[in-house]
Order: sequence, then structure tokens, then C-alpha cells
Amino acid sequence: MRKVAIVGVGLTKFGESWHRGFREMITEAGIRALADANMPGSDIDALYGGTMAAGRLIGQEHITALIADSMGLNPIPATRVEAACASGSVAMRAGYMAVASGIHDQVVVGGVEKMTDVSTGEVTSALGGAGDQEWELFMGATFPSLYALMARRHMHDYGTTEEQMAHAAVKNHYNAARNKYAQYQKEITLDTVMKSKVISSPLKMFDCSPITDGAAAAVLVPLEKARKYTDTPIEIVASAQASDTLSLHSRESLTRLNAAIEASKKAYGQAKLKPSDIDVAEVHDCFTIAELIAIEDLGFCKKGEGGKMTEQGETALNSKISVNTSGGLKGCGHPVGATGVKQIAEIVWQLRGEAEKRQVKKADIGLTHNVGGSGATCVVHILKRGD
Ligand SMILES: CC(C)(COP(=O)(O)OP(=O)(O)OC[C@H]1O[C@@H](n2cnc3c(N)ncnc32)[C@H](O)[C@@H]1OP(=O)(O)O)[C@@H](O)C(=O)NCCC(=O)NCCS
Repeated sequence: MRKVAIVGVGLTKFGESWHRGFREMITEAGIRALADANMPGSDIDALYGGTMAAGRLIGQEHITALIADSMGLNPIPATRVEAACASGSVAMRAGYMAVASGIHDQVVVGGVEKMTDVSTGEVTSALGGAGDQEWELFMGATFPSLYALMARRHMHDYGTTEEQMAHAAVKNHYNAARNKYAQYQKEITLDTVMKSKVISSPLKMFDCSPITDGAAAAVLVPLEKARKYTDTPIEIVASAQASDTLSLHSRESLTRLNAAIEASKKAYGQAKLKPSDIDVAEVHDCFTIAELIAIEDLGFCKKGEGGKMTEQGETALNSKISVNTSGGLKGCGHPVGATGVKQIAEIVWQLRGEAEKRQVKKADIGLTHNVGGSGATCVVHILKRGD
């Protein structure tokens, strides 16, 4: 296995994008990543792209052929992967494996979703495809309601409160207000969250990630070649993925994600690191309860203490561990297929010292945690500054 480095990243501004379509967004992110890597498109050997529901949301399949064409990269192989909201990270891992194995040298990875061209109802139904169609969606469950079940059980088992969950949203909006790519560049108060409309009790509007358009891209090369392109290569020191049951009711516990626990254990093992070594993490806060569960599953605190840790400010910028400095899915937005690659871009900027107003003071090692559906897929990457 070869060591792999990230030498370029690019994002579009997340939000409601009326002036740019799917093609323009992913092409813009891809070209920004190539420019960031000082790399001509002619150097790229392969492309991996993640999108969850382009067929349902914009009627477009065969998206990686579209991207390669639009970016002028033909005839390189262009491969789509899909793993619901973890599509971007699974694409990242596919690109990582292609470079690590020696099959390809220079690889571009992209993630993209155009969600705002249809109604909230249509988006909810398309996102529902990440769950179990027969046992969950057909019975009326939606993603907010599945995560609401997890929240209720967490409150029951560990005494977690709605206010503790709300603290995650307040923190993530604070960070998003310092991120020019974020959908919501505004700070909010606890009161804003607590008084927002109920979506699926106990989750309110400000406990939910929004519906978002956006794209993200990254360029990977073997570490030994990275300095040809950049002075600040970021090494991928772990790339791990795990799976769990598609439906929530088949699980032993509603308050942990086994796939996240398994993927993080593997990742810490690959990197020879422990949770306390992580300085900055982008975790999958599709709903506030998901962030509380994520920090427990990743070992940043004991089981059941995610609410307390969040309320005490230990996940805020430059605290014990800076979590979701980009604003997370809540503040930065959640264009589902793009999210995993955006998390990688944020960690790359943090480790390079380029995160501007949200820069973490000591950012040597970063982690991303990206979940598909209610936890049937989880991917964890650990990055550090390349030597
Ligand atoms: C919460 C949700 C249902 C709200 O949708 P909606 O009721 O149709 O809201 P609208 O689109 O009408 O937006 C109304 C206002 O609230 C804002 N808003 C919408 N969702 C928001 C959110 N999650 N957080 C903060 N503000 C939000 C909009 O920007 C808009 O503001 P404006 O009036 O200033 O323009 C929707 O954001 C949602 O479904 N989120 C979850 C997405 C999801 O499940 N993702 C996958 C996770 S696994």
C-alpha cells in the first residue's frame, strides 16, 4: 500500500443555488480543487463521484460521465458511488484505495447534490430512500422521525435534554457564521432553537440540517509525489468504513451507531491514534442528536455524556476538541452527496492553517465521520499534515 495525500480541495458556496445547476456546481468545485492543487486536468487518471439521489431530485443519472465530460477529463474512467448521505465519503475512500493500491496516481473525487429544485415533500421522500422502504417509509417514517426516535431513547436512557441538543445547533451556527461557504452565516441563540417549529418531536426546525445545493471536490496523489503539487500535503492516515442494519428497529440499541463505532475503531487502529489525539473533527450532525451520538461513538466522551459535553462547551471552537468547525451539516448545509467531501475539505483547510476566522489554534490531526441513512453506513477518515 502506498501512502496517499490530498493536494487540493474545492467547494461551491452551499445554499439555495438558483443560478447554477448540478453540472455547474460540480464542475466549479472540481476546477477549484485542481487549481488548489496546481494541477492541469490532463494529469488526472481517474474520477470518483458521490451523489445520493440525482435521479429522483433532478432526473439525472450517469453523473460521473457528465462530470468527466463537463470538466474536460474524457476519456479517464469515471465511477459513481452511492451510499445515501455517506456517498461523498465512500467516493473519497474509493479514490484513496485506487491511489493506495497503485492502480491510479492522480485522482479527483467529487460529491454533489442539487436538492432545492423540488418541494420539501419530494426531498423528504427521496431522502427516505436511505432507510428501509418496506419497513420504515411505507409505514410513514421520515428521516426526522427516525432521528426523533433516537433522540427520545437517548433522553430516556441518559437524561439528555432538548436544551443540550440545542447547544449543538447554536455552536454549529456560530462556526458557520465564520465560514464563507456556509448556507447559514448567522449566529443563533438557544431560544431560537427551542422556540422553532416542531418537525418531529423532540426535534425542532433548528435541530435539523437544511435542504441544500452544493458540491465539493478533492485531488489525491501518492504522498511521495505530493510535493510536486503543494508545500502542504495532507496525508490520509486512516480510511475505514462499516455497515449496519438498514432499518432502525433491527438494531440492539437506538442510542449508538455500530457502524460508526466499528469504523472509528478501525480508523484509530490504522492511524495508531486514540480519540484524545484528535484536534478537530467534522461529524455527521444531520440532526443535533446525531452529533451527540457521534461524539460518544467516536470516543470523545463516555457513552451518554454527549449532551453534557456539548452543553459544557467542550466541542466548541478551540475547546477540548473542536467539532464541526465548518458549521457542520446544521449550519454549513447538507447537500447529501457532497457532505463527506466537504468534511474532508474543511479538515484540509484546518490542518493547513487556512480556516480563517474559524481556525483551530492547534490543528495537527483531524477526523471526518460521515453517516449514510440512520447509520447503515459509516465512513471515518483521519488526516494529518504530511511530512
Ligand atoms: C426542517 C425542514 C423540514 C424545513 O423545511 P420547510 O419547512 O420546507 O422550510 P422552508 O424551506 O419553507 O424554509 C422556511 C425558512 O426556514 C429556513 N430553514 C429551513 N430549514 C432550516 C433548518 N433546517 N435550519 C434553519 N433554518 C431552516 C429557510 O431558510 C427559510 O428561511 P427564510 O424564510 O428566511 O428563507 C427541512 O429543512 C428538512 O427536511 N430538513 C431535514 C433534511 C434531512 O432529512 N436531511 C437528511 C438527513 S439524514
